Amino acid sequence: MKTKYLQFNDKDLTAAGELIRQGELVAFPTETVYGLGANAFNVNAVKNSYSAKGRPSDNPLIVHVYDKSQIYDIAREVSSDAEKIIDSLLPASLTIVLPKRDVIDDCITAGLDTVAIRMPLSVQARKFLRYANVPVTAPSANLSGRPSPTTWQRVAEDLDGRIAAVLCGQPCGVGIESTVLDLSRDEPLILRPGIVTPQEIQSVLHKKVTVVTDPKAIVNSPGVRYKHYAPRVPMALDVSGDADKLARYYDELTRKGYNPVLLVEHPEAFGGRNVRLIGRADEEVARSLFENLRVLETQFDYIIASFSSKTQFAESILNRLTRSAGHNII
Ligand code: TXA
Ligand code: MG
Repeated sequence: MKTKYLQFNDKDLTAAGELIRQGELVAFPTETVYGLGANAFNVNAVKNSYSAKGRPSDNPLIVHVYDKSQIYDIAREVSSDAEKIIDSLLPASLTIVLPKRDVIDDCITAGLDTVAIRMPLSVQARKFLRYANVPVTAPSANLSGRPSPTTWQRVAEDLDGRIAAVLCGQPCGVGIESTVLDLSRDEPLILRPGIVTPQEIQSVLHKKVTVVTDPKAIVNSPGVRYKHYAPRVPMALDVSGDADKLARYYDELTRKGYNPVLLVEHPEAFGGRNVRLIGRADEEVARSLFENLRVLETQFDYIIASFSSKTQFAESILNRLTRSAGHNII
């Protein structure tokens, strides 16, 4: 299949919307990462999005909307907590999990009785969704297991020839995927941390929000179980920021014949070694994280990342880094 590369003008957006309604796959920008869009009301299209990515079919998809009213068309029950979140936080880099209506097929939810719904903050994303004018399922637009794409060029790298079109928008400003908040039960649960923090959610709900930390314990968000965000070369993660320890680890790898690189907060501390700045502030680390991994895997054969920030947002970055490193914490 020849993939079309579309721009954000009325003609191309109209074409993108038509492709979605016809059951084709269109990748599009959001503020978190690029998504691989399919018409949520077309079972074949949704199934094709799993195969284009090579995604296991028991990992459910997020349904994207441009207007709050669409949430009520696909959720069977909207609790008062959910209403508070919808009214005061959306649109946001936040996905809410609610009981599903029958219009949402089991292949979207992997058989669960709930559906994940997201109204993106990105104006470009909502514009595309408006032209599509149907709810759109969208996993991150990468091959399954790979770091999520934050530019249209990275989408092309993974999916060119496998999907109908890529809508070429801005690079993603947030850089890691949305916070997933389960509001389908009495106790609000964060299933995947993101830029919308537990604190922010708590300040709207005025009740405790639990962050699920052990992915193995999760039965209701299968996506967090899988190998994810992994670069093509081995990776290790340090959370102390201890430069001496990192230098020793690096030197040991070079003795073993590796050509490693340090992806760190203070590259200036590692004279003569291969280094790259991971970012100065949390926001910058998140924005460039997946791009950094995709750049470094082509130049080096071992990535040693170090990230020691301890803020609530840092937790969500650490979540991605830990999984990129396959839990290889040093
Ligand atoms: O920022 C994002 O959320 C991006 C952009 C494109 O919107 N999308 C994204 O989709 O990250 P994906 O497919 O890579 O991740 C979806 C996550 C998975 O962890 C999945 O398990 C969870 O959402 N999920 C989907 N439906 C669910 C449900 N009914 N219950 C619990 N978790 C669900
Ligand atoms: Mg993903």
